[in-house]
Amino acid sequence: MSNFWNPLIKQLEPYIPGEQLDDPAIIKLNTNENPFPPSPKVLTAIEEEAKTKLQLYPSPTVDELREEIGNYYGLKKEQVFIGNGSDEVLALGFMTFFEPGKAIKYPDITYSFYPVYAKLYQLDVDEIALEEDFTISPESFFHSEGGVIFPNPNAPTSLYLELEAIEAILKNNSDQVVIIDEAYVDFAEKSAVSLIDSYPNLLVVQTLSKSRSLAGLRVGMAMGHPDLIEGLNRVKDSFNSYTIDRLAIAGAIEAFRDTAYFEKTRKEIIATREYFRRELEKRRFHVPPSQANFVLASPADIEAEKLFTELKQAGFLIRYFNKPKLENYLRISIGTKEQMTKLLHAIDSITEK
Ligand SMILES: Cc1ncc(COP(=O)(O)O)c(C=O)c1O
Repeated sequence: MSNFWNPLIKQLEPYIPGEQLDDPAIIKLNTNENPFPPSPKVLTAIEEEAKTKLQLYPSPTVDELREEIGNYYGLKKEQVFIGNGSDEVLALGFMTFFEPGKAIKYPDITYSFYPVYAKLYQLDVDEIALEEDFTISPESFFHSEGGVIFPNPNAPTSLYLELEAIEAILKNNSDQVVIIDEAYVDFAEKSAVSLIDSYPNLLVVQTLSKSRSLAGLRVGMAMGHPDLIEGLNRVKDSFNSYTIDRLAIAGAIEAFRDTAYFEKTRKEIIATREYFRRELEKRRFHVPPSQANFVLASPADIEAEKLFTELKQAGFLIRYFNKPKLENYLRISIGTKEQMTKLLHAIDSITEK
């Protein structure tokens, strides 16, 4: 704490990301990264760009990537915004669409960056309790004062909300922006992108960090009505014109072109998730039905925190949130089948002790 900080900075409580340990011996299943490397075509595109273009500024409007994503989803480039990871897109979204004095709604168990942004922008918050089984009751998100945000699938619960429920939330917040954070949607049923042309108050945020194996490249996007996208660009261009570097643009374009690699790795993770979930259930864990690249799991025969600590000692990094309602849950990212099998063996040797 320093007296040079302004009063707002003094009372901030920054987000704490999951641990990033570089030890290759550790099986890292704590930040929902993809266990597969990016498509080889992405790596070639990045290499080519690095060799020939790094002396030049990147495009401030990121048109080529916006067009590529537009083609993928059947949108115009004016309906697509690009940011430095979806965290940046979310931060700009909070600033563009939400305002102090009008409470925004988000779930009480959700992505822990939302309360941090709310504090940074001095927003009022109406935290909505999830149901006992962690599902979202759509009605409780109706008629917000200042807007709505939640992930779908939600994190860390992993549960997916059907598009009909999202439509009901959009209809009952027609004067406010509803942000659906789809960081994990490629492992789930359907994206809300299909609703964009019908609801001018819908902003869908996605990332290349999870399903496209590019957490290290930092690319995220928002999709919505051109007026929402223009608002985001106004804020971005009042802050930093070049948030996306040349390597990120080149790699991201290729990631959207190589649909075969994307489909293959995405399906493999979904299959491994279902295998892992069944195996945990055999071991008497409670595991809500995940539509993400992680599961939330509660062990019956050992305290979650104890299992977390012992797994860490055994070389497996997963996530434990010491938070109300989650005290006896662990969040486990889905790695390769081989990694998940090793984790199951480690769980067995700890619980059989
Ligand atoms: C729900 C949710 N939204 C957004 C993000 C941020 O992703 P990124 O900034 O890597 O795009 C995460 C990352 O874990 C997340 O869980």
